[in-house]
Amino acid sequence: MKSSFLDKLIDRLDLVDPEEVQNLIERLTREKGFMENVFSALREGMFVLEPGGVITYVNPAACHIFGLAQDNVVGSPLEKCVRGLAIEGLAKPDAVVSRDFEIFYPENRYLNFYISPITSIVEEKDTHLGYVLLVRDITETRQETAEAIETEKLNALTFLAAGVAHEIGNPLNSLNIHLQLMERKLRKLPENQRSDLEGCLHTAQGEIQRLDGILKQFLQAIRPVPPERTLTNLHHVLEETIQLLQPELEARSVNIHLDLADNLQPILVDPDQIKQAFFNLIKNAFQALPASGGNISLSTDSHEYEVSMTISDDGPGISAEIMGSLFEPYKTTKRGGTGLGLLIVRRILHSHGGEIEVDSTLGEGTQVKLFFPLGPKPARLLNAPATTSDDLDVIDIDISG
Ligand SMILES: Nc1ncnc2c1ncn2[C@@H]1O[C@H](COP(=O)(O)OP(=O)(O)OP(=O)(O)O)[C@@H](O)[C@H]1O
Ligand SMILES: [Mg+2]
Repeated sequence: MKSSFLDKLIDRLDLVDPEEVQNLIERLTREKGFMENVFSALREGMFVLEPGGVITYVNPAACHIFGLAQDNVVGSPLEKCVRGLAIEGLAKPDAVVSRDFEIFYPENRYLNFYISPITSIVEEKDTHLGYVLLVRDITETRQETAEAIETEKLNALTFLAAGVAHEIGNPLNSLNIHLQLMERKLRKLPENQRSDLEGCLHTAQGEIQRLDGILKQFLQAIRPVPPERTLTNLHHVLEETIQLLQPELEARSVNIHLDLADNLQPILVDPDQIKQAFFNLIKNAFQALPASGGNISLSTDSHEYEVSMTISDDGPGISAEIMGSLFEPYKTTKRGGTGLGLLIVRRILHSHGGEIEVDSTLGEGTQVKLFFPLGPKPARLLNAPATTSDDLDVIDIDISG
């Protein structure tokens, strides 16, 4: 990069003592090395670009974010190295521009770009020398925002559902009382007039009870209840869930394969909530299987700090499109599905300090893994990064924050 001092120096180079020139070059080289070390230490990705977009410098963090090899990048246009990112239309020679981007290679991440023009005064005139482009990884911030929105949505839904349940619950109660009165009056009628009416009455009472049950279940499912933890054996909960679903599993010719860990330690969880989570997941698994039946595998495993449980099916798998909105409320591909099942499972897992992981291959099946912590995780000292200058180049820059 030129500066007026350097310009003047270059113009009068023939007048400067050779030793002085050598000192100056050494000083400039040292300064360049220092600046490069500073840029290499940045967690933000950094590109220096010519006005047309050709890369003149890239730091290791930018290479890490975009999966680039530093040596191949310098001298190439930016859009060739990062597809979809052309400098025209993005940068302005007289203004700083900030934009968010989503990239899909080497992994799906959200980035924020900050593009600032570089100008220098040459012969008393502002000259546009190019751009500096800074890249920040904002994937986690976005995920946190998305989770906050989801909680908001769920709260709104709970509020609405509680209101509706209240409104429906009252007339249901009153209907029930009136049907009981009718039942009493019916008993006084002669036998031959009674039987038909009794049939209708029992159907009506049955339907009211069913509606009441659905309402209660719905509220129970979506109301965030803090877990009532007791020392629980997950295998017992699993057994109870399978028993509950046994009639449906048999009707659909589903084979259940169990691969349970020996001596799985009991964990502090709310058994009812965990049963609800297992129930939702096994239900999803058999609902995905074809009418001719299929296989569901249930396995448990114990690790140093957690216990895991895996539910796999050999159904059709989940498409990328549905995978992206798996935990969103009301997203369902089923007639009669609420699209709340997985969201409730995740909420239960999170309130237990656990995690859920979904893996699916189209045409092969789906695997859902649940992790339950065995207690608060102890703090652990991470390996100190290498600090010798030789090692600096190979330190893997963790940009995920
Ligand atoms: N094991 C699975 N195999 C294939 N697709 C699945 C599987 N589990 C979930 N899905 C997909 O994810 C969607 C959301 O599942 P979720 O359990 O949240 O709601 P739902 O099953 O549609 O409704 P509900 O749980 O109320 O019956 C489903 O509609 C389905 O498309
Ligand atoms: Mg479901």
